[in-house]
Formats: sequence, structure tokens, C-alpha cells
Amino acid sequence: MKNRRILVTSALPNANGPIHLGHLVEHIQTDIWVRFQKILGNHCVYVCADDAHGTATMLRAEELGTVPEKLIEKVRDEHSKDFRAFHIEHDNYYSTHSIENESLASFFFRRLSDADQIRTEAVRQFFDPKEKMFLADRYIIGSCPRCKEKNQYGDNCESCGATYEATDLIDPISKISGEKPTLKESEHLFFKLSNFTEFLKIWTRSGVLSEPIANKLNEWLKEGLKDWDISRDGPYFGFEIPGYPSKYFYVWLDAPIGYIAAFQNFCEKNDLDYQEYWREESECEVHHFIGKDIINFHALFWPAILNCAGYRTPTKIHVHGFLTVNGTKMSKSRGTFITAQEYLDHLDPEFLRYYCASKLNASAEDIDFNLDDFVQKVNSDLVGKFVNIASRCSKFIEKEFNYRLSEIPSNRLHDETIAKEGEIRQFFEKADYAGAIREIMSLASKANQFIDKKKPWVLIKEETNRAEVQQICSIGLDIFRILTIFLKPILPNLAESAEAFLGTDSQTWSDIGEPIHDKTINQFHPLLKRIDSKTANKIVRESEDKIETKEPRTKKSISIDDFTKIDLRVARVIGATEVEGADKLLKLDLDAGNETRSVFSGIKSAYRPKELKDRLVVLVANLAPRQMKFGVSEGMVLAASDEQGNVYLIEPPPNSFPGMKIS
Ligand code: 2FM
Ligand code: ZN
Repeated sequence: MKNRRILVTSALPNANGPIHLGHLVEHIQTDIWVRFQKILGNHCVYVCADDAHGTATMLRAEELGTVPEKLIEKVRDEHSKDFRAFHIEHDNYYSTHSIENESLASFFFRRLSDADQIRTEAVRQFFDPKEKMFLADRYIIGSCPRCKEKNQYGDNCESCGATYEATDLIDPISKISGEKPTLKESEHLFFKLSNFTEFLKIWTRSGVLSEPIANKLNEWLKEGLKDWDISRDGPYFGFEIPGYPSKYFYVWLDAPIGYIAAFQNFCEKNDLDYQEYWREESECEVHHFIGKDIINFHALFWPAILNCAGYRTPTKIHVHGFLTVNGTKMSKSRGTFITAQEYLDHLDPEFLRYYCASKLNASAEDIDFNLDDFVQKVNSDLVGKFVNIASRCSKFIEKEFNYRLSEIPSNRLHDETIAKEGEIRQFFEKADYAGAIREIMSLASKANQFIDKKKPWVLIKEETNRAEVQQICSIGLDIFRILTIFLKPILPNLAESAEAFLGTDSQTWSDIGEPIHDKTINQFHPLLKRIDSKTANKIVRESEDKIETKEPRTKKSISIDDFTKIDLRVARVIGATEVEGADKLLKLDLDAGNETRSVFSGIKSAYRPKELKDRLVVLVANLAPRQMKFGVSEGMVLAASDEQGNVYLIEPPPNSFPGMKIS
């Protein structure tokens, strides 16, 4: 059979947060499939990228006092490092903020425009008057119009499940500035997705998707699709739309095009033609691995755009379910939002690969990361069954036969193990790794039973049985070798150590029926250590302190340059008086070194004027004078306050003096 040429992708992680277990499940799923194809001898390229664009990246950069370009570079390094630590081998891990992607996105837009599939429409949307930007639903919070629960997003209520328009929220405020948003109109560009409903009805049933997923999509297709808004107004971190100044491609337009761009970048470095893979009628395959939350983007918008632009559509979209931890949605407040780093601080990455594989099948059912089950499965399958075969057999081969394997005599279990190859291959091909593992572990159990039954530790006591013991152990170790090949896509590191122990070259699928015999092997070292559940549970507790917040981000971070603009000085209170008509204020006369200042300060609840005399305080000396109801305030005095409203003046050290600069 001709070798297949396959391009594979995982969904592009957002460039504004760390890699967590949810990403890892998907990338492990994809990586296993890619490694399997490569071991089979197919030409397979796995690309991914950071999804760099969008409002979230822009705001995150601002929060960190940096620019999006710098942020995405740093995050991409971190993401690549995390993935590598889990032995996820992307052939290219790129960014959607690339030259290739910019030119491809423009090219696609031109094709869609030329095909008359772009139109404009005025859209009324919430606008943050302070930040001067339009607000997507997740940047608006208010009370649910149905159950009145506070702090709900602009599209649905997490408390009662109601869905609504952002404009239905009671007392909406901008999550970015805390201000009340206004309504503003702006021209948007739409892709005429509605024209592709009929095409998609056929396409979604063409074998690219599992039947349940195609059925789900049919619920939308039945109603007819609405056109898709593909533009966003500035400020926005993205690609400006050619011919439409200050309008940007919506991040979800250029993100999937980023798959092609990442592949193009790989091809240029590896002397391949990316267009060969993407032209209509291409013989190459394209496989996307995604989560079920983004099916509409990949199985409706994306094929419609590809089709309209005259490109091929994906061969298959592999959809997985959501990840839950100990039965519930990952959550920062429960400590179950586990990042790649938090996992790595305590546990071996291959354990996660194995556990994910054991839970992943071809359906989009949710995957529960249950810590007790995780510990049990790794210990009983990998240590107790698989590695145990090698440990038990190597003992005799080392001690009694000077590391020498015998010929492999005809043996039923050995034949059966080889014969399972076809079934296991099918499971991998369908991305039903749970099915593959069931078969592999059943073979491992049988191998252990075979050793139990033969009792080499009894046989070896009789000199006449020595040849038989060598054969039993050689059979056991060759079965171990075959199982290692089966497990290799899942556990590449463990497989490498096993190959080093057996003294073989890197094994591929075609080596399954080629037993090792009549050769010397190396010393056996335990290939894995059992996990104890105390260690495993640490990954949950580690992250318990990270509380999710939906409060408005009223204070944006400032840069160091902003901070150094503030002139903080020591001042001495020379006089403090109550202000007539003011409940909270005291008027402070301050000696600020070579000048005096009058400042109104909201500290009346905590201090009596008399006790303030001669006290040292911290003065913001370069604050512009402010006209207040009771007079002009020439600066500000720093104080801390707690949640009960107690106020405490910030005190400079006793040996400081008026006019002294604080930095
Ligand atoms: O859902 C997400 O995290 C997106 N960043 C996935 C993008 S996948 C693709 F289309 F680019
Ligand atoms: Zn509600």
C-alpha cells in the first residue's frame, strides 16, 4: 500500500494563558495519533501554533505593562516548553501572528470578496466610553434579567442558565473599566455563511465527522445558518482588513487559516509544497483534532470558507469531550485548574499520557481525570502488568543465562500477540486509544499468567529444565517487546528505555513479527516507579489558592515608567483641622521640605486632629492640585484601608525628614 501523506493539527492554544490539563489532553491525543502514523511508516506532519490575536491578548498585555507582540513571544516559548515536557512533538509550533498568516488571511478575504460572499452591515453594540472600545459579551457584566443574579456575563447566566442579549442585562458595566457602557453603531463585514447551508448539509455527512456530531450540527443546519460577522473594530490585536482601515479580522477568521500558515512555514524549511496538501482534490489528508466546544468553527465556518476560496476541506475532524477533574469542571477555586507546570512539579508526564489514552475513545464523551483512578491505573497496568513481564523474565536471563536469549519456539500466546496487531492498529487509527489499551493490557495479563503457569522459579531448580526456562523467558521478553511497540505512540520515553534494555534499534510497526532471539540483552533497571496517591493529590492542592474573579478590572496595570512619574515625599503634619460640613475629611497642613501644602484627606473616621500633629506622612507631591468643595487640595496623603473601612496612615521611618524622596 502506498504511504499516506497526512497533515495533522490540534486546536491552537490562546496566547494569553498557560497550558493546562485541558490543552494537554488534546495535544496528547493528537501526538499519539501522529506518532502512530509515523511508526506505521506514513508521512505525517503535526503543526500547531499559538492563537495570538483578539481582545484578550491585547488586554492581558496591557495588564502586564507590555505590548501584545512581546507577550505572545514569551507565551509561545512557555507553551512550546510545556508541550515538549509532555513529549508532544509538534513538527512546527508557530504563531497566528506571522507573515504567512497575514498574507494568507488577506488572500482568503480576497477570494471570498471576489466570490461576492462578503457584505457589510451596521451593528449596534455596547461601547466602553472610557476605554474607547467596543465590548464583546464577555467583557460586559451585570445582573441576569431572569433570576437577577449579580455579576453575569453579557450572553448567558451561569446561575439560572438563561441566554440573552448583552443589552438585556440589568445595570451592565464594562468589565474592563467598570464604567457604564453606551450603545454605538459600527459597520461590520459579514461572510455570507447562509449561502453554504446546503453545501454543509452534505459535507457534514460525508464521513469527516462522527454521526452524533453530524446530528448535532444538523440542528443548526436545519434552521439555516446566519451570516458570520468576521470583522472587529480597533483597538484590536489582529490583522487589519485590506481596504478597511481600523477594522480587523475577527480572531476566529485568521485562527484556522493559521493551520495552513504554520504548515506553509514548515514546508518552506523542509522543501515541501504546502499547496499540494491544500488544493482541491488533493490526495493528501488533513486531520484536525479539536474539543466539542469549537465544532461550529471547524465543521461549519471553516469548511465553508475553504470551499468558497477554492481550497480542499479537512479529511476528518476528531472531536473530544470536555475534561473534568474528579468529576467536576476544572476550576481555579476548587484547585482543579491544573497547569502543565503544576503537574510536572510532582508527576511523570508519561503517566498523564497513559491515563489520557486509557480514557480517550472515538466519541466526544467528557473525560474525567479522577486522581484515585489515575493512580490505580498507572500502578496496576504499567507497573503491575506491563513492566512486570520484563522484570520477571530478565531476572533469569541475567542470572542464569548471562543475558542471552534463546530461539523463540512456536508458542500460542506469542502468535496471538502478533495476530492482535490488526485490531490494535484499527483502534489507533480511529483514535480509540481506550480500545487499544484494553487489548494491550489483556495481552500483558496473559503474558503474566503464562509465566505464573510455567513457574520458571520452580523449573530452574532442575538442571534438565534450564533450556525451557530460557525459552519461557525469551518468549516473555519478546512479547514485552511487541507490547512496547503497541504502546510506543502513547509512551515514547518508556519505549525508548525498553528498547535500550532489550538492545534493539528503534522499533517500528513492521518489527512486530520480527522476534528478537539468540542475542544478548542489557541489564534490567526498573522502568517505572509506582505513584503514591499522596504525591498525586498534591497537584490539586497546589493550585487551590488561585481564585477566579469576575470583578471588573477597574485598575489597569501601569508600566515602570508610569510608576516613576509619581513623586512620593515625606511630609510632617504641622496642623490638622476638621472641615465644616465634611463627614470624612480632615484638612492637613504639611511641611513638605522647602514648601507647605494643604491637603484634604479622608481619614477623619480614624484620627483626631490633635493626635496628628508632628506625625510623618507620605505625600504624593506632584499630584495636580484639585478643586474640592471645601477648597483646593495640593497633593494626597497615602493611607491603607481594610474591608471594614478602617483607615491607617502610611508612616515613613522615624528618622526620615520632610522633603525626603521615597523611591
Ligand atoms: O478555543 C480556543 O482556544 C481557540 N484558540 C482555538 C483555535 S483553533 C483554530 F481554529 F485555530
Ligand atoms: Zn439568571
